[in-house]
Parts: sequence; structure tokens; C-alpha cells
Amino acid sequence: MMGRFGFLVSLLLTASLNVQLCLGQSSTPTVYKDSKTGITFDTWIVPDKRTGASGTASTWGGMTFGVALPQNALTTDATEFIGYLQCPSNSTTLTGWCGISLAGPMTNSLLLMAYPYQNQVLTSFRYATGYDNPEVYTGDAKLTQISSTVNSTSYSVIFRCQNCLSWNQGGATGHASTSAGSLVLGWCNAFPSPGNPSCPDKVSIVQHDNGQSIFGAALDSNAANPSYSQWAAKATATVTGNCGGTTSTPTTTPTAAPTGVPVPSGTYDYIVVGAGAGGIPIADKLSEAGKKVLLIEKGPPSSGRWGGTLGPDWVKGTNLTRFDVPGLCNEIWEDSAGISCTDTDQMAGCVLGGGTAINAGLWWKPYTLDWDYNFPTGWKSTDMAGATSRVFSRIPGTDTPSKDGLRYLQQGFDVISGGLASAGWKNVTANSVPDQKNHTFSHTPFMFSNGERGGPMATYLVTANARSNFKLWTGTAVKRVIRTGGHITGVEVEAYRNGGYVGVVNVTATTGRVILSAGAFGSAKVLMRSGIGPQDQLEVVKSSTDGPTMISNSSWIKLPVGYNLDDHVNTDTVITHPSVVFYDFYEAYDDPNITDVNLYLNKRSGILAQAAPNIGPMFFDEIKGADGIVRQIEWTARVEGSGGVDNGNAMTMSQYLGRGAVSRGRMTITKALSTVVSTVPYLQDKNDVAAVIQGIKNLQAALKNVKNLTWQLPPANTTVEDFVNNMVVSYSNRRANHWIGTSKLGTDDGRSGGTAVVDVNTQVYGTDNLFVVDASIFPGHVTTNPSAYIVIASERAAERILALAPPKALAQFAQCGGTGYTGSFQCAAPYTCQYQNDYYWQVPCRYVMLMRIAAKSTKIATAKNADESVDTVRD
Ligand SMILES: Cc1cc2nc3c(=O)[nH]c(=O)nc-3n(C[C@H](O)[C@H](O)[C@H](O)COP(=O)(O)OP(=O)(O)OC[C@H]3O[C@@H](n4cnc5c(N)ncnc54)[C@H](O)[C@@H]3O)c2cc1C
Ligand code: HEM
Repeated sequence: MMGRFGFLVSLLLTASLNVQLCLGQSSTPTVYKDSKTGITFDTWIVPDKRTGASGTASTWGGMTFGVALPQNALTTDATEFIGYLQCPSNSTTLTGWCGISLAGPMTNSLLLMAYPYQNQVLTSFRYATGYDNPEVYTGDAKLTQISSTVNSTSYSVIFRCQNCLSWNQGGATGHASTSAGSLVLGWCNAFPSPGNPSCPDKVSIVQHDNGQSIFGAALDSNAANPSYSQWAAKATATVTGNCGGTTSTPTTTPTAAPTGVPVPSGTYDYIVVGAGAGGIPIADKLSEAGKKVLLIEKGPPSSGRWGGTLGPDWVKGTNLTRFDVPGLCNEIWEDSAGISCTDTDQMAGCVLGGGTAINAGLWWKPYTLDWDYNFPTGWKSTDMAGATSRVFSRIPGTDTPSKDGLRYLQQGFDVISGGLASAGWKNVTANSVPDQKNHTFSHTPFMFSNGERGGPMATYLVTANARSNFKLWTGTAVKRVIRTGGHITGVEVEAYRNGGYVGVVNVTATTGRVILSAGAFGSAKVLMRSGIGPQDQLEVVKSSTDGPTMISNSSWIKLPVGYNLDDHVNTDTVITHPSVVFYDFYEAYDDPNITDVNLYLNKRSGILAQAAPNIGPMFFDEIKGADGIVRQIEWTARVEGSGGVDNGNAMTMSQYLGRGAVSRGRMTITKALSTVVSTVPYLQDKNDVAAVIQGIKNLQAALKNVKNLTWQLPPANTTVEDFVNNMVVSYSNRRANHWIGTSKLGTDDGRSGGTAVVDVNTQVYGTDNLFVVDASIFPGHVTTNPSAYIVIASERAAERILALAPPKALAQFAQCGGTGYTGSFQCAAPYTCQYQNDYYWQVPCRYVMLMRIAAKSTKIATAKNADESVDTVRD
């Protein structure tokens, strides 16, 4: 589902902010001149809710950030600025901290946090590779203070920030460009004071609880000033706090490495990497077929059924956790530390169950056109019918998740669905008529069962775990596959949590196989670390800490891993209506309504059996573009405000653009071995943009006769075109968390210029026993939230993989590799497959020697370095 269903979601667009498409935005600055120093800043203000700032506020206490820049900064990128930061404190005891992101999103950006301490303002540079506690920044940014103030309601600091407009954290780089005439910035605010406050680089913090967002920040002529150098010279105070007598030198926050346990002996017919929507079902199916299966999951247990324990006090003593209670599903956006993956810049669950442990559980029977439009032969809707019925017989889903069969707080549903119905949209039971996705609306189907999350962890994993030929390891991350040419012999693992395994675990000799199901970012990362991917990305891995042990570059398999990245682009719209009733699911964590808790605990009924934040109706539209392509739109309505509109009577309706969208992005890896969305897949195509605009217009038209309904976003005085075209396009405000496509399934072999990474059996081109089975293989986007599709794809992949002839070893002299080669890559003992040239690998023997002579005489490429040359005649 969407960026989040949550509280204080990022402002971005208020009428006064004019933020343009493609990050080249503007949001009009307010000029502020500091009376003491005379420094003039362009500032941007997050309004204070307490002052009742016209209902568009996003935080209690407000916040202001401003910059002054060197004189030529609007034509030549500056490397530094003078900053002004004012943040709220919610009591006279000076609590809180606040933060700024110099690129907008929290991830992949230089972050600056500040907090009041003993009448000073202490600061710390941070960097986040995932939506988890950021590390201390280790680059050369330098902050010196000009002045600071601390009073009972706020704290502020004026500072010079050198080397702050480009950054490098362990080789992961980025920058902000002042010559573009605008910046995209992010802010966050927190009420609790940092723990251990005396030393800013050693504080402990929990997730910000007083709002966060990104915003466009236009730089006008006031931002760049001829007096910059004089002003900068005032920055003489190095305010370090008390870090034990030494000036604190930035180092990565020392987190104790998890204690690993050596891999026990034993081999497996199948090793499945990652226990999410793709991994759990296929591990079950393979073990059901009698194969010896090891499922390796990086994260810890989540659901209580599997030993998870995390949850509010009111679930203590039950076997429930925050992952099991539908009403707590949105906690991932409030408290993600330790649950979200730290090695990807997107929100992803690194726990048992993956996305199916943290998502909102929306569960859709596929629209047949999604398979028929996107997938190749063998994966068309008729091919998927068996897998679909198997999945839906195990996880039928429900649109009445409360066990008493009632639906709670349906006022918002009634307002929107009433409007749609009167405009002629059809009321359907979505999973009974999955192909009716044009001008239809429905209640929301969830994978929940018995009032709990359910899904693959409660079905497929249970049956798999009951088999003696199945093993599950948690807390263990796969670094890479171990391979000789295109044949994988095992995987190298490391502990991700205490007690996780470390070492190499092998597949059964000759016939064993490895299946990557680590998600759209995780599987691509394992491939790249295993020397499989685009040349430029393999070079990055080579330059990382993996370098010395990475497979030799003559064995690299060049495939377009990471391209074809896609996600539903999300465009939030908001209405208010006096009938809508908000329920505070977030408060339900710490301070719940006792009646609701009892109803849930005793009967698995009531509002807490429904996914936060009261999702529905869901509705669908199809829009034909000028390019002739029909683009699919899914709308999710939910009861909460967003974009600065308060909760209360508000409903946010998020539009997802799905099947038919042609924009694609790219995922890459950094030298620090984290994955990033380096090209966002959103709205690069004008017909994709047109569909988003038309979709909103269609909705406005449908709801136009609903009495007392007020459009907040887009506001009445803004055209839909301006609303859409002026909205920042960033993953932090437009993500739907439905990432797919990084190992595209298809018949056009990516080794020879095609776009596919895996063939129609999900087998990685250029290998004979490596497969990818998860969201990565989807060629293009589907209509709805994709988890049911991924589970179905996993069932289908199991069918196809089990139907393949078992891998077998080649006899002496046989070809065993080379560009375009599709056969076996392994040789009967005692031979190993040897590189001859890019086009030919072979089981070594005299024939090899002959080949080398032949190669020399015809001047075709020969082995590239000594360790690849084939000097040993082993027969
Ligand atoms: C916040 C959020 C809400 C969502 N809401 C919905 C919804 O309501 N309905 C819906 O249909 N979809 C929803 N989605 C999307 C859906 O959950 C994902 O599309 C789906 O889970 C992806 O399946 P997957 O198997 O590709 O990856 P995942 O489910 O992410 O599973 C990958 C697993 O691999 C593990 N892993 C990663 N790297 C390694 C490694 N190196 N070694 C070992 N293990 C590894 C991870 O920890 C994870 O458990 C949501 C997603 C998010 C993030
Ligand atoms: C324990 C520490 C932290 C955790 C767990 C955390 C987690 C998160 C999460 C889950 C979001 C997405 C919220 C949403 O979309 O609703 C987010 C957003 C954000 N965070 Fe943090 N955060 C932490 C610390 C920080 C710090 C120290 C900074 C800056 C100094 C920061 C800056 C931001 C910004 C600017 C956003 C909004 C932009 C975006 O969504 O990328 N965060 N954070």
C-alpha cells in the first residue's frame, strides 16, 4: 500500500507552496534577517498547529529552516551555506530534537540533527541507508556556530555548514545543487529528548514523533549575498558538547556485530533466500514435493506464532504481536527501527514474513489482464489459473475482517461509495469479479483470518515447518551465492541477528538449486554481490569491502539487474466531510480504548480487527492515453488527513497508477553495499502524467454531487493540472511500496542485449541452478497491491521449477558456458568448467589446450588473466 497510512504525513502541497515537477521546484521563501548578525536568509516554515495556521499545519510548535549562500551560488554550485534552524521545544525543561535532510528524503542524504542542551544547541551530522536509526556521518562536513538561542518554547541556531552540499558515506554519494535555483529539503521533529545528550554523536534517539516531510525550497535572489564571506567569518564557535574531553571525530556508530554461529553440516536440495511473499510459498511447495529445503531469513521472527514478541503492553501474555493485530499494521511508519531493512533506501520489512508481516494485508485476486498484458507465454492468465485457485483456497481473504462479521466506523466508506454509486460506478465484491476494474468500487479485501494478520506466515509456513525435510533459519543474511561459472554450489551467510549463522551452506551436489526471494532490492543485491548484474554495478561491488573475495571478473554474468524498477506512483488527494469519523489507531498502541481492546482480545472483533487507518472504499478506473495504452488506476480511500490536512473529518484518497504505465526507474548498489533507487520510476512519460490527471478529474466528477463534501487537495482554486504538475516527484512522497521489476522475467536474454534477467522458468540467464522468485521478476505493474500476485507467481514458479529436468554434470569436452549459452554449467568430477573466452567455457582437457591454440591463431579473445587460464590438464 501507500507511502504510509499515517499521521502527519508529509505536507507537501499547500496552496502557498508552488512545487514543480521533477524536483526542479519552487516553494516561495520568506526572507528573514537576523537582527544580531545582519545575516539574511531565505527561509521555509512548517507552521505551528497550536497557532491554528489555517488547518494546513503539520507539526506542533512549528519549525523554520533557512539558508544564506555565497554570492555566486545561484550560478555555480555552492559547497557550503549559512543555516538558520529554529525548532520547537514542548516544555520549559527543553525537550525535543529536530532534523533537516539536505536532499529531501531521510535516506541517501546528509542529515543534520539539533537539540537544546544546557543552554546550548548541540548538533550532529547523520546518514541513513534505510528507514532506521541513522548512523553518524563519517564524511567531512563541518559545522561552526555563529549564535544560538534556547528558550522555553523553542531553540534556534545559526551556523556555517561547510562541505554540506555534497556527501559521501562509505562511498555512497549525493549532492544538492544550488545553481538549480531550488533545493528539495526534508524536516522532522521529535518531542522526547535524546538519551545520553552531552555528546551529540553519541545520543540515543527514537523515531521522530512530531511530524516529518519533504518540501521544495526555491532560492530567490535574497539567498545569495555578497556579504557571505564576512558572515561566514563570524562562525567561530565549535560547539561539541561534552564527549569525554576529546573532540569527537565522526565514526560510524559502533553497533556490536551480531554473534554468529558456524553453519552446521548438511546440504539441501533447495536453498531459498528470504522469507517473504515470494520465499515462503515456494519453500513450502518444494518441501511438499519431498525436496530437502532450507529457508534463510535475514530478519527476526515477527508474528507471535513464530516466536515474535514485539507489541504494546496490552498484547503481553497473549501470543499476539504488533504484526498480528490488523489495527496495528501502520506502526511500521511510527516505529520502524529494528524492523525495516537498513540496507535499502525504501521501506521494507526485514523480519520473518517480509512485506507480508508489516503490510496492511490488502489481498486481491488478480485481474487476468495484468498477466496477459505484462507477462510472456507460460505466465498468461490461463497459465496462472491453477496457481491462483491454490493460493485462494489457502488464503481466501475477507472483506469483513472483524470476526463478528460487522464493519466498524463505515461513515467515510459510505460518503465516498455513495458518491461513486450515484455517479454510476458499480458496487462489487472485488475478489468475486476480479476483472471488473473500471468504474467499480468495493470493500477492501484483506488476507486476514480469524481477526489476525494471517497470510503466508499462517498457512504456507505452517505446513512447511511441519515437514522434517524443511528447515528455517532466521537472523541469517545471505551475502552471495558461491558459484563456478553458471553453477551455484551454495550460499555464503553471515549473522544479521545474534544466533544467526555464519559460513557457507551448500546445495546437494549436482542437483541442488538456489532460489532468491529476498525482494526487489534484496535479490538484486545478492545477484550483484555474486557477480551477476550490469558491468557498472559489478565494478561498484568490486570496489567495496567485497572486492577482495568477489568472483573474478571473467566469471561475471552481465545482466540488466536493477533496471526495469517499478512501483505504483502514488498521488494523494484529500476531502473532508462532516460525517467522517476518525479513529486514532496510533494512540491504540500506547493508550487504547479499553472496550476496543477487550473486544479484540476476547472476540477478535471490533475496529482493531480492521487494518489501520480504516481503509475503504477501494475503487478503480481505466484511462486510455493518447498513445493508445489503457492505464489502470487503483484508488485507496482511508480515514485520515494528509498533505497538511488534519485528521478529523478528512479522508485521503491515494491514486496508484498501475498496469500500462511506461515509466521505469533503476535500482543500483553503493560502495557501502546498500541499495538505492537511483532513478525514480515515476511519471517520466507524458501519457503517464496525463492518466494521473485524468484519474483525479474523473474522481472529482464522480463525487461532485456529494453534499457537504469539500475538496482539500487539490484545493478548489487549483487546477488538477497544476496540482499534479507542481507536486514533487520523489520516492519519499510518491512511493506506494510496491517495488517490482529488478530481475525481469522474459524471453529476451539480458546477456545479449535483451531486458530479461530470468527466463520463463525464473532461472537466471547464464546459470543452471539459480532462480529468482519474488517481486523482482514482474515485468510491469499490476492493478492492485501486489502481494497476492507475488504469492501466485511463487506457486507458478514452483510448478515450473519442479518440472525442469534435474541439473546434471557434463562429460569431458562439453561446452559449459559462454555468452548465450543455456545448458548445464557443471562438469563431472574431477573437471571444473573453465573460461576459454567470453563466448566459450569448457570442461577442461586436451581439447581445451587445442582450443587455446586455435584461439591464439584466430586471435579471438583468450583467458584474461593467469588464474583464469587453463593450464592444468586433469585427465
Ligand atoms: C509498508 C508496506 C505496506 C504494504 N502494503 C501492502 C498491502 O496492503 N497489500 C499488498 O498486496 N502489498 C502490500 N505491500 C507490498 C508487499 O508487501 C510486497 O510487494 C511484497 O511483500 C514483496 O514480496 P517479496 O517476496 O518480493 O519481498 P518481501 O516480502 O519483502 O520479502 C523479502 C524477504 O527477504 C529477506 N531478505 C532480504 N535480503 C536478504 C538476504 N540477503 N538474506 C536473507 N534474507 C533476506 C527480507 O528480510 C524479507 O523477509 C506493502 C509493502 C510495504 C513495505
Ligand atoms: C530512530 C531514528 C529514526 C527512525 C526510526 C526514522 C524513521 C523514519 C520513517 C519510518 C519515516 C517515514 C515516515 C512516513 O513516511 O510516514 C521517516 C521520515 C523522515 N525522517 Fe526519519 N527516522 C529516524 C531519525 C531521523 C533523523 C535523525 C532525521 C534527520 C536528522 C530524520 C529525517 C527524516 C525525514 C526528513 C523524513 C521525511 C522524508 C522521508 O520520508 O524520507 N529521521 N523517518
